[in-house]
Amino acid sequence: PAGDITDARGRPLHDLRISVTDRCNFRCVYCMPKEIFGRDFAFRERSELLSFEEIERLARVSVSLGVTKLRLTGGEPLLRRGITELVTMLAKLRTPEGAPVDLAMTTNGSALPKMAQSLKDAGLNRVTISLDSLDDAKFKAINDVNFPVARVLEAIEVAREVGLGPVKINTVLKRGVNDDEILELAEHFRGTGAILRFIEYMDVGTTNGWKLDEVLPSAEVVSMINERWALEPVTKTEPGETANRWRYTDGAGEIGVISSVTNAFCGNCSRSRVSAEGQLYTCLFAGSGYDLRKLMRDGISDEDLAKALTGHWRKRDDNYSELRAALTPGNRKRIEMSYIGG
Ligand code: GTP
Ligand code: 5AD
Ligand code: SF4
Ligand code: SF4
Repeated sequence: PAGDITDARGRPLHDLRISVTDRCNFRCVYCMPKEIFGRDFAFRERSELLSFEEIERLARVSVSLGVTKLRLTGGEPLLRRGITELVTMLAKLRTPEGAPVDLAMTTNGSALPKMAQSLKDAGLNRVTISLDSLDDAKFKAINDVNFPVARVLEAIEVAREVGLGPVKINTVLKRGVNDDEILELAEHFRGTGAILRFIEYMDVGTTNGWKLDEVLPSAEVVSMINERWALEPVTKTEPGETANRWRYTDGAGEIGVISSVTNAFCGNCSRSRVSAEGQLYTCLFAGSGYDLRKLMRDGISDEDLAKALTGHWRKRDDNYSELRAALTPGNRKRIEMSYIGG
């Protein structure tokens, strides 16, 4: 029966994060630095990407095995041509109990003002929008393509208006870069219904030159905000959730902190990831994937695909964030954030 698959550490499979493209129109300096992701960078060709039919099939079989949450990621998912059609296909999926799945997307928001309504109509439930600074010059320096912050703020507004919510805002904090904006960001989103989440900068991939001293521990963030507006903890809705949640005691809403570095959450990690070309990764920090595209293009049946996914999950013992300090960063092969979508 569904929900019964557990991995080698007893963790169930509940979430599937699907990257639909490895391309992005931003070049965030900590994610797709231009020196590496420049004009000559070899992104995947169209024929290498999973088709919508292949993605739908993978999602459908995963849902039959207990997955209840689907998240579309990239690169930037809204760059994938026809993405609204894919949303329509995925929104039709039902769990073995007959319930709809939670269908979400992580996006930089750049294309949202014009696409939000059709995504909502197609059945997307909610979006998470990345926003690292409210300061236009700083935001442009981070995205490195001169994209104005006003257009992301507009995207957040439009997403809220069309009902793609509660809208979550992802802010990656880097010491010396945007840690001076914590209170300003909190104030901006207080009382708007949006949920601001501060993310500890992580050592994903091998191109961002991550250093531990650039990480701003979530405990500092919470205490800083709490001094200005009192906070109280909110219990996690799901055990495998990434964020620790806090609410303003004055009723102005909720914030979250994602503390993969100072307080790893591998213990309940129920997330599986598929890259745009159909490689399955059971950890954000995995060195290699498992080729699902080949299985599907070689003509595997749904039943055998389900067996393959189950077998792979049962063997899973990843817990990178719990081991981070012990593993020397840099000498391990790791996938890039832009390839797997966070
Ligand atoms: P919700 O379903 O809304 O809670 O979304 P989410 O937090 O699972 O997804 P999102 O894409 O917004 O992720 C937020 C941040 O957490 C990103 O920086 C992710 O890279 C990071 N993150 C998400 N899942 C994991 C994970 O399994 N491990 C680690 N280390 N970081 C993760
Ligand atoms: N550490 C933490 N979060 C990151 N993101 C991208 N790179 C990193 C990193 N090194 C964030 C993006 C986006 C989410 C999917 O992951 O800003 O919000
Ligand atoms: Fe920036 Fe997200 Fe694009 Fe990476 S994938 S460059 S974090 S917008
Ligand atoms: Fe899950 Fe790997 Fe992240 Fe740990 S580091 S929470 S196992 S994805």
